Amino acid sequence: MRVLSGIQPSGSLHLGNYFAMMQRMITYQQEHELFCFIVNYHALTTLFDSKLLRENTFSAACDFLSLGIDPEKAIFWVQSDVPEVAELTWLLSNVTGLGLLERAHSYKDKLARGIKPNHGLFSYPVLMAADILLYGSERIPVGKDQKQHVEMTRDIAISFNNTYGETFVLPEPEIPDDVATVPGIDGQKMSKSYNNTIKIFCSEEELRERVMCIKTDSTPVMAPKNPDTCILFAIYSLFLDEAQQVRLRERYLTPGLKYSEIKKELIGIIWEYFAPYRKKREALLKNRDEVHQILKVGMEKARAIAGEYLSKARHNAGLDYWI
Ligand code: ADP
Ligand code: TRP
Repeated sequence: MRVLSGIQPSGSLHLGNYFAMMQRMITYQQEHELFCFIVNYHALTTLFDSKLLRENTFSAACDFLSLGIDPEKAIFWVQSDVPEVAELTWLLSNVTGLGLLERAHSYKDKLARGIKPNHGLFSYPVLMAADILLYGSERIPVGKDQKQHVEMTRDIAISFNNTYGETFVLPEPEIPDDVATVPGIDGQKMSKSYNNTIKIFCSEEELRERVMCIKTDSTPVMAPKNPDTCILFAIYSLFLDEAQQVRLRERYLTPGLKYSEIKKELIGIIWEYFAPYRKKREALLKNRDEVHQILKVGMEKARAIAGEYLSKARHNAGLDYWI
């Protein structure tokens, strides 16, 4: 099975990214054909600081590699290294109804947050469809916020296939319930754009500061607490197996639990969980040539497959006027 997903280098990667997408991708490389990439063309829709975009792209690549993406098993690259995706975006644009794009939640949310709309932001889902269709991807592991984008990809693929004949594979989103929406420290979806993240890699001081700021309610210490409405419980549970979650739940229901103590435990757990990867990441950050070489090999493998799908799409649309 072909599995594909991407992540925007629009800021530092966080627990939501890790549990909803990165961890699953890393597991899938063992048994599936895995396509994993850093979507810097997408980040251009909202990030206009060229230095920061370069830094974030490199650091996202180091994050993935240190957490376990194996370039021998997976195809791992940076989106803009495969310019074929921009051409496919154009071909798809002409079979994409305006109404479909106008219904995109993500676009509407960005407008509501005061982001000045540009054409790139509006046609973001078409570029994402090109990302997916260019590699014949079947399964797309994402968080819930991306469900609609993958459904739009299916609609765009169907529209192209109906117009020009069978060309593209129809992809399916894959969204496990337990990590569909990881909450941020304020209770909204954790997101690089909401300043509510807990980063995968940050200093111990920053980790402490972020965890201590997780919003909790004002239930008195001597009253039982409600785990089902507690953001702290939801974040802590990401690191626990089922039996451990049951035990934490019992502690919540027993009077006397102090949120501050749970927070202190959680700091230690997060710090230890990512400890084995931190050293590897430090080494990669210093070894830029090695990382560039890995991404170059990934780009070559990705381009070979992208070329096949693009040629088929060009032919079916009639761009090869010379035949
Ligand atoms: P962000 O919203 O932080 O910019 P991205 O848009 O780059 O994150 O998302 C990368 C992947 O991580 C996507 O599959 C997205 O659905 C997933 N993701 C991001 N934040 C969360 C979250 N809080 N809960 C679940 N999945 C998330
Ligand atoms: N839009 C996705 C996000 O913000 C990132 C993305 C771009 C993506 N292209 C993709 C995800 C292709 C899966 C497949 O999270």
